[in-house]
Amino acid sequence: MAVEVVQETLQQAAASSSTTVLGFSPMLTTLVGTLVAMALKGLRDDLDDIDENDVGAKRRLALLDAMVEMAKNPDIEWNEKDIMDEVNTIMFEGHDTTSAGSSFALCMMGIHKDIQAKVFAEQKAIFGDNMLRDCTFADTMEMKYLERVILETLRLYPPVPLIARRLDYDLKLASGPYTVPKGTTVIVLQYCVHRRPDIYPNPTKFDPDNFLPERMANRHYYSFIPFSAGPRSCVGRKYAMLKLKVLLSTIVRNYIVHSTDTEADFKLQADIILKLENGFNVSLEKRQYATVA
Ligand code: HEM
Repeated sequence: MAVEVVQETLQQAAASSSTTVLGFSPMLTTLVGTLVAMALKGLRDDLDDIDENDVGAKRRLALLDAMVEMAKNPDIEWNEKDIMDEVNTIMFEGHDTTSAGSSFALCMMGIHKDIQAKVFAEQKAIFGDNMLRDCTFADTMEMKYLERVILETLRLYPPVPLIARRLDYDLKLASGPYTVPKGTTVIVLQYCVHRRPDIYPNPTKFDPDNFLPERMANRHYYSFIPFSAGPRSCVGRKYAMLKLKVLLSTIVRNYIVHSTDTEADFKLQADIILKLENGFNVSLEKRQYATVA
């Protein structure tokens, strides 16, 4: 049913002469999710490598400072409106996506109480007798189980359920004698890629252990693409993971999460960002800790 919702959204966009999907042309040719894995089999791009090795202290200008500096350079065509556009993009991309991601993660913990118990146990191991202190960056590095819960949530409920690209040139696929012609709009449905039974056995089961290192090592590099991949992939993915960990850690340490819905009750709504038609029906019960006199 959920797949149908995504597909219906795409069809509606294709049928409407004025509608664009994520800013692309209405001339819509749908090449469903399998394409990305076929086309890119064995291929990785430079940005992903940089991303993996992106550790340690770096001296960089903050984005806003860099853009203001650029605006001062008479050799670069770049003005205040360009800065505002970029800031709007960051604000939109950074807000709705993480709010959908954290809401789905809370639903998952409310529904799968055994998993919530494991998340809480990990928090207890990290925070010990001081469960209500602020979370530090070092703490987040230890949250391995919570990280798996977040990744599994992004697998089943990717906040950006599809991406689109219009080809500027004929694209020869690496997977075989196929050429996708210039001008085609290619839709990649990460929602469907993430639920392929040949990649994820029992694909609809919420199982954070899908992200154990040994399982990840045995999967295609692009079998998990909630942040897209390549040169136009999400610039905020590390910040997003950090934000989700701090937020969910704080909520789970302070509250027990309950859900009145089961996953079978979910009615997915895919309008750019994936949501639930009837909202995220979770409730929070305050955790009681003994106070030190
Ligand atoms: C769970 C959270 C997030 C998810 C699932 C997500 C997903 C994505 C995806 C799939 C794209 C590619 C869209 C496309 O190609 O059409 C993207 C792009 C982008 N994201 Fe995120 N994102 C998240 C959080 C964030 C955050 C926190 C920020 C910034 C603070 C951010 C900033 C951006 C920007 C600026 C782009 C455009 C990059 C470009 O066009 O070169 N995202 N994101």
